[in-house]
Amino acid sequence: MNRADAEARLQQLRAEIEDHNYNYYVLDNPVVPDAEYDRLFRELQSLEQQYPELATPDSPTRRVGGRPLAAFAPVHHRVPMLSIRTETDTTPAGALAFDARVRKELGLSEAEPAVEYAAELKFDGLAMSLRYEHGVLVQAATRGDGETGEEVTQNVRTVQTIPLRLNTAAPPAVLEVRGEVFMRRADFERYNEKQRAQSKPTLVNPRNAAAGSIRQLDPAIAAQRSLSFYCYGIGEVVGWYLPASHGEVLDALAALGLPVSTERVVGPGSATLIAFHRDVAARRDSLPFDIDGVVYKVNRLDLQRRLGFVAREPRWAVAHKYPAQEELTTVEAIEVQVGRTGAITPVARLKPVFVGGVTVTNATLHNEDEVRRKDVRVGDTVIVRRAGDVIPEVVAVVLERRPLRDLVTPLYPVFELPKNCPECGAPVLRLDGEAVARCTNGLSCPAQRKQAIVHFASRRAMAIEGLGEKLVDQLVDLGLVQTPADLYGLKLETLADLERMAQKSAANLLAAIETSRGRALYRFIYALGIRNVGEQTAKDLARHFGALDALMAADEASLLQVDEVGSIVAESILAFFGEPHNRAVIERLRVAGAWQDGAARPTGSGRLAGKTFVLSGTLPTLTRDQAKEMIESAGGKVACSVSKKTDFVVAGSAPGSKFTKALEFGIVVLDEEGLQALLKLGRVI
Ligand code: IVH
Repeated sequence: MNRADAEARLQQLRAEIEDHNYNYYVLDNPVVPDAEYDRLFRELQSLEQQYPELATPDSPTRRVGGRPLAAFAPVHHRVPMLSIRTETDTTPAGALAFDARVRKELGLSEAEPAVEYAAELKFDGLAMSLRYEHGVLVQAATRGDGETGEEVTQNVRTVQTIPLRLNTAAPPAVLEVRGEVFMRRADFERYNEKQRAQSKPTLVNPRNAAAGSIRQLDPAIAAQRSLSFYCYGIGEVVGWYLPASHGEVLDALAALGLPVSTERVVGPGSATLIAFHRDVAARRDSLPFDIDGVVYKVNRLDLQRRLGFVAREPRWAVAHKYPAQEELTTVEAIEVQVGRTGAITPVARLKPVFVGGVTVTNATLHNEDEVRRKDVRVGDTVIVRRAGDVIPEVVAVVLERRPLRDLVTPLYPVFELPKNCPECGAPVLRLDGEAVARCTNGLSCPAQRKQAIVHFASRRAMAIEGLGEKLVDQLVDLGLVQTPADLYGLKLETLADLERMAQKSAANLLAAIETSRGRALYRFIYALGIRNVGEQTAKDLARHFGALDALMAADEASLLQVDEVGSIVAESILAFFGEPHNRAVIERLRVAGAWQDGAARPTGSGRLAGKTFVLSGTLPTLTRDQAKEMIESAGGKVACSVSKKTDFVVAGSAPGSKFTKALEFGIVVLDEEGLQALLKLGRVI
C-alpha cells in the first residue's frame, strides 16, 4: 500500500470506527460484533504505526471511547477510568509477551526473581464507578470517555448485590470502587424466554442487556432485569488504609461486603498467567456469565506506580482474550426443524464460522415472529452468538451488508412458516397467544417420534450411551423402532446390519440398552418427554408420588400439591397420560422393566432427609449441579426460591436476594465449607 492509499484507508477506518463507537457506547446498539470491531481497530493501529506522520490527535485510537448521553447528569472522574491494553493472541504467547514487557520496563535482568501477578476474569459488561462516602453509596457513574461519565445512581441501586452501605464500623471518608455491571447468562436467557413467549423484542446479548438496563432513564425498567456486579479495582480514596498489593485491595473490598469474584489467583511469573488462562478457558462455558478474556495485573501497587501509563492504558495491566462469542457470517438457507413436542423452529444454515471455540453451521431463529422482527433473509450477513452451552443463535442482521439486488435478482423473500409439517405433511397450527407453531400429528410424525426417542435415550434421561440422532434416524426410517418401547426388543443382528455399525458397536449399544433397565423413577418420568416437565419437575413428581401409577392416576388437584407444579404443568401431565397411545407405550415399557418405582431419593432416608436447601451465588469450588447432586444424594431437596419452608441457604460469593431473604426469615445460611461439614456430619435435626 502506498502512502496515498494508506491515507485514504485511514480516513475510511476512522469514520467507520467512530460510527461503531457511537452505536456501541451511546446507543447501546452495536451493528457489528466485537471481533469485527477489533479487526478494524487493529488495522487502524498498525497503519498509524507504519505511517506515524498520518496519525491524528482525534483518531479513535487516542480515546477510551464513548460520549455521555445528554439525558444523564455528567460526572467528572477525579481519578480517570482507564482502558486496558488487549493482547489478542489467544495462545500462551500473550502472557509471555506481557511478562517480558513488564520486566523490561522495570529494568529486571534474567537473573532477578519473577514478578508477582494477579490474574482475574475480564467481565463482559459495563464499567462502573461506585462512590461511597462515609460508608454510604452516594453515586454511581459509567465510564463515559474516561474523564466524564454519566450519573446512573438510581439504576445501580436496583443491582441486588451492590451494597448500599459498606460493612464496617469505621468507613473511609471516600472510597470509589471500580468494577463491572453484567448480566448472568441464566438471567439473560430467562428474560428472553419470557419476552419470546409474548412475542416481544429480546435482548441481544448479556453485555448489551447490562449496558442498556443501566442506561435506562426509567429505573423501573432496570429493576426488572437482574444484573450483577463484581469489583476489580479502586478510584479515589480518602482516609482508607491502602494495602500493598492489588490482591489485598480486592480482599479488603470483599471484607467491606462488596462482591468480588473468587475466580482469581496471585502468583509469580508468566507461568501463573498461562495456567490461569488455560484453566479458565476450560471452564469458560460453565461459568454463569460471559467473559471475553482474563486480565493480568502486576500485583504490587508500588510497582504499578513505577510502571505508570502509556496514553490511557496502564503498563501494569493487560487483557488476554479468548475466541470471540459473536462473529459474522452469512445465511445460506432458512429451514425449519420439528422438535420433540412438534414445535416448528426456523433454523439458519450458515457459512461455517468459528465462534465461542467451535465451528458453527446452524443457528436457531427461535420462532416465526423473531425471524420477522430481526428480518433475517437468505444471503444476509448476520451476527451469530454462541456462549456457554446455549445453542447458537442469530442475534441480528447487519443491514448495511445486505446484498444489493435489482429486479432480475430480487431480495430473498420474507420467511414464511410452512403450512404443513416438512416431515409428515400434517397441518401446522399456531394457537392464539402462543409464539410457537406446532405440527398437529403428535407421535405419528416421524420427526417428533425421532426426537422423542433421542430425548428418551439422552444422558439425563435413560442414559442409553451410543444411541444418537443418526442411529435413531435409521431405526425410525427403517421402521425398526416406532416408540421408546421398541428399543428393548432390538436384536443384535438387526443392529449390526445398520450403516456405520458393526458386530462390536451393535453389542455395545445392546448392552447400553440393557443397563438402562430399572432406571430411577425420576429419570423415567423425565425421559417420557412430557411437555413442560423438565428434570427438576420430574424429580419433584417422583418424590411426591413415589410410583408411576400414582402419578398416572393423579387428578389436577393432587398434581397442584406438588411443590412448584402450577396449572400449566398439571395440564400438560394430564394431557400426556390422557392419551391412550402414551399409556400403551408405558405398559410395554413396564413389561421391559424400564423403571423402578420409588422416590428419586427416598425421603425418610439419608442425613438430609426432609430438609430443603436453596443455593445462592457462586460457590468457591463446587458447581451448582455438583452441590445439588450432593444434597440430593443425602436425601435433601433443592428448591429455587427461599420460603418459610426453606431449612438452609447455601451462599457463595455475590449471593443476591435469596441471601437477604434468608436473613429476613432467620434461615440458617451456610457457606460451602458449612455444607460439606453438614454432609459429613450425622443426621440433621
Ligand atoms: S482493570 C486500569 N479488570 O475491561 C485498568 N478491567 O478495557 C482498569 N474489565 O473498562 C480496568 N474485567 O470495563 C479491569 N478484571 C478486570 C476487568 C476489567 C472487565 C473491563 C473494564 C474496562 C475494560 C478494559
